[in-house]
Formats: sequence, structure tokens, C-alpha cells
Amino acid sequence: APGRAVDAPLLGFKPVPISRADTVTVPEGYTTQVIAPWGDPVGLAGAMPAFRWDAGNSADEQAAQLGMHHDGLHFFSLDGSRSGLLVMNHEYVDPDLLFPDGRAGWNAEKGRKSQAAHGVSVIEVREQGGRWEVVRPSRHARRITASTPMAVGGPAAGHPLLRTAADPAGQRILGTFNNCASGITPWGTYLTCEENFIGYFQPPAEPDAHQRRWGLRAGEQAWLRWHLHDERFDAGRHPNEPNRFGWVVEIDPFDPASTPIKRTALGRAAHEGATTVLTRDGRAVVYMGEDAANEYLYRFVSRDKVQPGGARANATLLDQGTLSVARFDADGRGRWLPLVHGQGPLTAANGFADQGEVLVKARQASDLLGATRMDRPEWTAVDRQGWAYCALTNHSRRGTSGQPGVDAANPRANNTMGQIIRWKEDGDHDGAVFSWNHFALAGDPAAERPEARGTIRGDAFGCPDGLWVDGRGVLWIQTDMSSSVMGRGEHAGLGNNAMLAADPATGEVRRFLVGPAGCEITGATATPDGRTMFINIQHPGEGPGDRNDPAQPRRYSNWPDQRPDGRPRSATVVIRRAGGGLIGS
Ligand code: FEO
Ligand code: CA
Ligand code: CA
Ligand code: CA
Repeated sequence: APGRAVDAPLLGFKPVPISRADTVTVPEGYTTQVIAPWGDPVGLAGAMPAFRWDAGNSADEQAAQLGMHHDGLHFFSLDGSRSGLLVMNHEYVDPDLLFPDGRAGWNAEKGRKSQAAHGVSVIEVREQGGRWEVVRPSRHARRITASTPMAVGGPAAGHPLLRTAADPAGQRILGTFNNCASGITPWGTYLTCEENFIGYFQPPAEPDAHQRRWGLRAGEQAWLRWHLHDERFDAGRHPNEPNRFGWVVEIDPFDPASTPIKRTALGRAAHEGATTVLTRDGRAVVYMGEDAANEYLYRFVSRDKVQPGGARANATLLDQGTLSVARFDADGRGRWLPLVHGQGPLTAANGFADQGEVLVKARQASDLLGATRMDRPEWTAVDRQGWAYCALTNHSRRGTSGQPGVDAANPRANNTMGQIIRWKEDGDHDGAVFSWNHFALAGDPAAERPEARGTIRGDAFGCPDGLWVDGRGVLWIQTDMSSSVMGRGEHAGLGNNAMLAADPATGEVRRFLVGPAGCEITGATATPDGRTMFINIQHPGEGPGDRNDPAQPRRYSNWPDQRPDGRPRSATVVIRRAGGGLIGS
């Protein structure tokens, strides 16, 4: 791993100012290169359809191209820092951009194309003369979409709550979607997190208590119209289908024929983030946020130790272990509350027949355990001193009528800015109790409302989302101010979404990168030598209005192609230094 001189500061670059430009801004001496935008072929031999600038590619073509709305990503090395696999999530789609005529005349082909634009891509990339390129064709190239067959592992595999007419055994699920944050395992696999899955299901006329707890509301509509051509998305006809989503999915990126596996032992949630570390005796610990207002922060500890031998030797490691949910107490201490059937209130009398039901209904179990209702927990990360971090992105309704009041961990009502919380278990990462504090409350020191000013030691930011600790120990922070607030009100002084670098020891924060108009910054990874960093730009050009409605103009972007006949595309940005130095130093 790249080291540093004992006295050299962790952060060595000159920070960039806020910006509202439709471009990527990085510090002096740094370069950027755009690769792998939505619609470019992933490199399947014999199927490399070019992107059509009017978005006229068919559903079948989209299934061989990078999906839309890039999110979490990771670089898996093939040859040191010169070539590797980039694996990335495609969280969702913008139907106004996905088709030449937008969402008008929704039909089966549009449904199939939008399903094919979701999921995960595996592409091979290599560096030559300081430039990176996608290798096409590549025997590693792969698309995983909302219809790719997946297996199920852990206590909820085959559970009655996972059985459907199409899958009476509850063992084979089609697809993954709304894949937001990602993680990796020490045995070389990729973890993709199913986030806001519930909105893809057409609610039944009268949702039951379980369906309501997970967000199915009478009278609401599935946001895409998948149920019209794929009836499993009609939750009235197939009430268990939503139970088959909201999982962390493990993918072996080195075997394009491998079957992705939904790991139910890690619990069901609107998953965001799955950061894995090892206990000193070699068991896997996975920290996971659930990005929804008033939901929870989770930790899974494997029963068994990680074995040498890569993915094959650890093929069921994530299937046995203990899932817990966090309670943050006012005295700076906290406790992990186990979600174990038969313990405490998690009994048959309270509606949990077995461990599988506890995992499918993790929210209800966490409610009964008295876990802390958080300000939308997004990505997690662990630093070199063993502190674990979670970005709590915002919760503007906290403290309002019908919502939780403030608490020590979520200390601001009308929390428009978010905060980064961190904790450290007593003993080891599997410890039952922990100490915690806030790394920073986000905000703008110039904000009129004192509560929106924050406690950042350095450059201002709002709505932290992505977190990643690099090989030198830098904590990278990526922001996701939503398009409904970006550039307005309390967020007016914060510019476009940004990526900042922080020193976990000193708390210093410096703005490293600002994204193009309307985007969020998400996903961070680097080559092993620390000299090439990859991030994703998601939804450039997204605005609060409707692109097709002149009365509600969007802040339209044409990043990255800037073609008058084109459209904004999510893409990966390669960051290097002119002299080839360590990123951030
Ligand atoms: Fe998909 Fe929580 O961001
Ligand atoms: Ca996110
Ligand atoms: Ca977010
Ligand atoms: Ca997003």
C-alpha cells in the first residue's frame, strides 16, 4: 500500500471553490477523463451496439450497453494498477432521457429497456500512456439487469415469505434494481445494495400492515409502469414479490457465468452501503445504512472466519452470522441490538415465526428493539484507527408533526444539511457496545439559520452521501443535495454537488472536486498504487422540473458530450495527477 513520509500532511492539494458550471472541476495539477458513459457498449463479444444520440437504442441493445445512473463502483485489479475490472451500479433511469420521446406511450418495449438499463455492469479497463480505456470485447464484460436470475442465500432462502407463483421454492429471484451504494469483500467479490425497491411495485388496493411499513400506499402508483408488462411487479397479485428485493447481492466479478446471490442474513432494508472489515480473529463485519427517513443502521458479524482461497472458499460466509441494529445513547455510548429470533421481543407471539421472518421484516424487528431512528443513513466507511463512519444525508422533516424529535445522534430539527456520525466498538468490530461522536455536522457557515451552519473544519458541504477511505487513510465525502434544493434556499451557497477529502485524525475537510450541473457525485475507488481514482457522476442535468414542460425548465446539462443533438449521460470520471502522483497528497 502507498505510504507517506511520517510528517507529510495527509491532504496536500489546493482546494477548489464551489461552482455551478456544467463541468468537472479538480485541483491544479490534476486531470480528468470521462469513460464508460450510459449507453456505451460494455464489450460483450458479438454484441457491441453503438450509443444512438437520440436514445433510440432498443431494449436488447441496452442490455449490452452500460446502464443509466451510475452509482457505487469498485476497481478489481487484473494486472496491478494497469488494468482491471470496473464494476458499477446503475441505480435507476430517467425515462425522459432513456427514450427519444421520453415516457410518452409507455409500452412493453419501454418497460424492457428500462429494466435493462438498471442493475450492474462489469467492464474491463486498462491504462496506456496515462489514459484509460474500456477493453472491447472482453471475456469479463457483463451486464446484470432487473431480470437476471439470482440465487438466494441465508436464513430467508426458500422462506414462505419469498415464495411466489413463478418461484414456488423461493430460491430463484429475477433481477436486482435501484442498486445504490456498493461494497467489496476481502475475498474479492462485489456487494451491490438494493435501495428504493418498493417504488417499483404497484400497491394493492388495501396494503396490509407489513406492506405499509415498507412503503406500499393505497392509491399510489409504481413510478415506472413495469407491472403492465411484467405482472410480478403488481403487489396486489403477487404480494411476496416485494419481499424478494431490499437485499445485499454478492457478485463474483471474475466469473461472468456466476450467479449473483442475495444474502438474506444481512437483512432486508432500503440498503445503502455494505462496508466490510475483519475482526482480529478473521470474521467478516459488514456495516450497512438504510437510506430512508427514520430508518436504521445495521451491522452483520459472520459466524465463521474468512478462509484463504477467494470467492470459492467463502461462498457461504455471508449466510451465517448475527445481524444487529444500532442504538445511539445521549451519553456518547451506544449498543448493537441483535436481530435474533427468540431473543427479546422477536418472538412468534409478536409476529416473527422464525429467523427468516425477522430478516424479511427487519424494520419491524428494529422498531420493537428500540433502535435509533436516523436521518437517512447512506454510505459507511471504516478508517485506519477502526472508527466506522456513516453519512446521514438529511431529514428536513425531523422535529415536525408526526415525525421523531431530535436526539443526540440526529440533533437538528429541519435537518436540511445532514451529518457524518462515527463510532468505535469496545474491543473489536464485533463488540456489543461502542462510543460515538459526530465527525461533522454539514452546512454552510453563511446560512441564515444557525442550525444550517454546521461544524465542518474546512470547506462547506451539504447532504453527505458517498463515503470511502482510500489506501492512505483519506476519508472521501461525496455530496447529494437533491435537485429540488441544489442552488436554492439554504443550499444556494454550496454550488453543485462535490467531493471532499477529509483527514480523520484532524477533522480537516478540503473540497477536491465539483461536478457538472444537476448531478450527484457517487462511487469512489482507486488503483492499488493510489495514482488513478475513479468516481461516478450520476444524473447530470437533473432538475426539479419536467424537461418536457417549458413552464418548469430543468437546469439542463449536456455533460459530458456537450453535443447539441445529445443528452446528458451518467459516466465514470478518471482522476490522475499530471506528474502521476498520489491522489489527494
Ligand atoms: Fe440512492 Fe441513498 O442514495
Ligand atoms: Ca446514495
Ligand atoms: Ca443520496
Ligand atoms: Ca442517487
